[in-house]
Amino acid sequence: PSASPTAMRRILPADMVERGTCPFDPPTGLRERRGQGAVQPLHLLNGAQAWLVTGFEEARTVLADPRFSADKVRHRDATSLQPHEVAEAAPPPAVESREDGFFVFMDPPEHTRLRRLLTGQFTVRRMRELESRVTEIAIEHIEAMKAAGTEADLVPAFALPLPSLVICELLGVDYADREEFQERTAIGLNANSGEEERAKAGLELYAFMQRLVAGKRAKPADDLLSGLVHDADPPLTDAQLVDVALVLLGAGHETTANMLGLGTFALLEHPEQLAALRADPGLIDNTVEELLRFLTIIQLGVNRVTTEPVTLGGVDIPADATVVIATPEVNRDAQHWPEPDRLDLLRPRTPHLAFGHGVHQCLGQQLARVEMKIGLGELFTRLPDLRLAVPADQVPLRDEMLIFGVHSLPVTWS
Ligand code: HEM
Repeated sequence: PSASPTAMRRILPADMVERGTCPFDPPTGLRERRGQGAVQPLHLLNGAQAWLVTGFEEARTVLADPRFSADKVRHRDATSLQPHEVAEAAPPPAVESREDGFFVFMDPPEHTRLRRLLTGQFTVRRMRELESRVTEIAIEHIEAMKAAGTEADLVPAFALPLPSLVICELLGVDYADREEFQERTAIGLNANSGEEERAKAGLELYAFMQRLVAGKRAKPADDLLSGLVHDADPPLTDAQLVDVALVLLGAGHETTANMLGLGTFALLEHPEQLAALRADPGLIDNTVEELLRFLTIIQLGVNRVTTEPVTLGGVDIPADATVVIATPEVNRDAQHWPEPDRLDLLRPRTPHLAFGHGVHQCLGQQLARVEMKIGLGELFTRLPDLRLAVPADQVPLRDEMLIFGVHSLPVTWS
């Protein structure tokens, strides 16, 4: 648990934030609300009124319908769940101009332009090159763990550095600067750091990105950021480029890290499933997809604001209303998955909402899949008797964070 109450705790009823006895099941309050309808009013602790969506179809409708805006900056007055309050994991909003390129919080057509520029940089060639780097990074870290002993905290030893170094590759951060980058990022994103410490790290990270962008402008290399500096027509401003880099950092870092940490925890706690994966390594793609569904780590961050009155699932929602999608419940919809609460690696693959849906659907999903597939694959192959080093109920959970997962995962092997 974190040192200070987070925004999630200040705004959402406790039973929507705290997990029950099973660390992998959605909070009990979400579960109970699900029984009360696919769309329902939600009273926030600060007195504001929002709407909660727990149904799979209704959630897809919201994410595909332009009457539900992602522009939380323009609708600042409409919603109590503001970007900086929701995006607890993002670096602090210390610099005004960071909204310039925060396309996560933009609607078309502004969103479309930045998104297109970025998809143009996520090329097949670049992803393939990243794949071999992900493998090298994974092996390097697992072998370092083994060389250091028979026990480790998997989060700092493996789950966090892997996506962090992949982002470095993507953005083209020099090897010499990586330690500084990783240190600032870890402090900035860690809920356990003090508020001041986080704000300071956030500013330093912003300055780091400014230097990085200036460097790419002066001397382009073969990386995504250089591509954005030189391919965009009309060109992007430095402030936009810094924002885009920060979005990629925030969106691509804690997400994969927590899927690796929590995913490992879930597999260790489902030994029969892990045995099936060990018996047939070809199950890894299914494993990744089922873990994404079952764990749905973006627990409450997928929100929209209505631009006009809308009727959703038979419920009337006024204009300027905040709509919160209960993603972990949505991905346990019994109409879509038989026995949805079971982790079942053999389940036929059907679309889930762990990466969202519609125009904002996760830009990094292929990369995330590669990171999980290689990361988990190498981990369980190279540490064949990996197990928890503490009782399962002592693993500290990220209940109160926008992105669910484990704060640490003590593991051992022989
Ligand atoms: C968007 C989940 C990994 C970059 C999203 C959204 C979800 C999500 C649910 C939609 C948010 C919304 O509609 O409001 C995840 C999960 C990941 C992951 C579960 C890991 C398992 C990554 C990685 C990257 C990335 C590795 C990049 C390197 C992004 C970006 C967006 C996004 C840039 C915003 C797209 C837009 O607004 O157009 N992600 N993500 N994600 N993700 Fe991911």
